[in-house]
Amino acid sequence: MQTTISPGPSRTANPGPAEGASLSRLSRLGRVHAFYTVTSTNDVARRLAGECEPAIVVADVQTRGRGRFGRKWHSAEGGLWTSFLLFPELPADRLGLLTLVAGLAVARALETHAGLEPELLWPNDVMIGGRKVAGILSESRGRAVIVGIGVNVNQSSFPPELPDATSVFICTGRHWDRLELLAGLAEDFVPLVGKLKDDGILTVVSEIKSRMSMLGKPVLLETGWTGLAALTLQHVQGTALELDVNGELLLQLDNGTTRAFSAGKVVKVR
Ligand code: BTN
Repeated sequence: MQTTISPGPSRTANPGPAEGASLSRLSRLGRVHAFYTVTSTNDVARRLAGECEPAIVVADVQTRGRGRFGRKWHSAEGGLWTSFLLFPELPADRLGLLTLVAGLAVARALETHAGLEPELLWPNDVMIGGRKVAGILSESRGRAVIVGIGVNVNQSSFPPELPDATSVFICTGRHWDRLELLAGLAEDFVPLVGKLKDDGILTVVSEIKSRMSMLGKPVLLETGWTGLAALTLQHVQGTALELDVNGELLLQLDNGTTRAFSAGKVVKVR
């Protein structure tokens, strides 16, 4: 299916001086592709993967934004919808960390720019006061990894089916420049990914853990796999014991055994 890319009235696609400055900061980190509307910034990044060049895709609106397990991601104007196309050359067992590291970069950016205190929920949610402000969707294609990041920035409300969503605007009472936020996030995220290749990984994982208040608490984990016809979801209860150096979550199950999860999603902290 063809990705829809259309020009539009937005300042992301047609930047003024302030947005231009942020886009030029971004362009030091990869080729920037800014659009008014696309189906999904992950789709665009995936199409660019063959060019073997790091890129950052950003759009004001996604018509088919998607979340984990194929769920729809509400992507109206006001949010920051972006995908990083990376060629990280990481060992396969470290790739899972990219999602967590993106969450860390989002949390740091919201702390630095907006004075918020976000928490991380394994593996891909950024939360403020128990509500979701951002989500990450990482996908791979050959050597390329696409890290899609959605941050609810300037939305003042959400549809009724998203009762647990919040935005930076709702938390702070003011609007934010999304491209400036993205430039700060990207300048943090790209070097953090570089640290995963060496001993720097230990400090990165330790900071991720320090932002996961769920560790040590009983949680409900959703795991899923796609069979021939459909997605099967399973729920597992246990205590979140530890995050290991590859980003796996160790759960002590209610029957006393310990199990490591590399995929899934914590949906509730009890
Ligand atoms: C989740 O929480 O389930 C992950 C949400 C990821 C949303 C972002 S928005 C930018 C990128 N494009 C998409 O279609 N999804 C990701």
